[in-house]
Amino acid sequence: MLHLAVFASGRGSNLESIAHAISRGNLDAEIVLVLSNNSTSGALDFAREHGIPAVHLSSKTNPDPEDFVSRMKSELKNRGVDFIALAGYMKKVPPDVVNIYANRITNIHPALLPAFGGKGMYGLNVHKAVLESGARITGVTVHIVTNDYDVGPIVAQECIPVWDGDTPESLASRVLELEHRLYPEALQLFAQDRITVNGLRTIHQPPA
Ligand code: GAR
Repeated sequence: MLHLAVFASGRGSNLESIAHAISRGNLDAEIVLVLSNNSTSGALDFAREHGIPAVHLSSKTNPDPEDFVSRMKSELKNRGVDFIALAGYMKKVPPDVVNIYANRITNIHPALLPAFGGKGMYGLNVHKAVLESGARITGVTVHIVTNDYDVGPIVAQECIPVWDGDTPESLASRVLELEHRLYPEALQLFAQDRITVNGLRTIHQPPA
């Protein structure tokens, strides 16, 4: 059972899909904290509506960087968080927190890494870059978070075709559907203790 913190900056649809997977019994986890840098995010609204502790933490709430990191660490510790899922969190996780939760932080990215990742590659920018490249497939990647953007070991990937006539918006919406299924499935691999990390790779144990 994971004691999950979900970090999100925006709409929060991946947070919702994780919460639904838990309530349907498909993910052995409890969301014990939702944290957002954006006070008006849908993610914080969803958390509050569902009685999940919701924390707004940003350079506005905590302008001193040291204070910011120590507040993040104490929120995580006080809630008993043992795993962090980034779900559309548009800020870098401080290195201190990445070290404490080594191999216990995942991110979902709306493309097939290692292509179309890195700084500035978020939201519609990713789908625009995919269309401009002429790639015939795109998809979703769940990976472990390290101190560099989008380069940690890959946990799960799935692809979909790019159709002629696709727009960044149409791709985003088809990719998002896939995200909503794949992220809870990937988190369940951790809940079942089936993932170990070996350098740049993850090793998956078969189901018991
Ligand atoms: C998702 O598409 C996620 O993959 C993307 O932000 C969206 C968040 O949607 N993340 C990135 O681009 C990270 N580089 P949501 O708030 O509805 O879950």
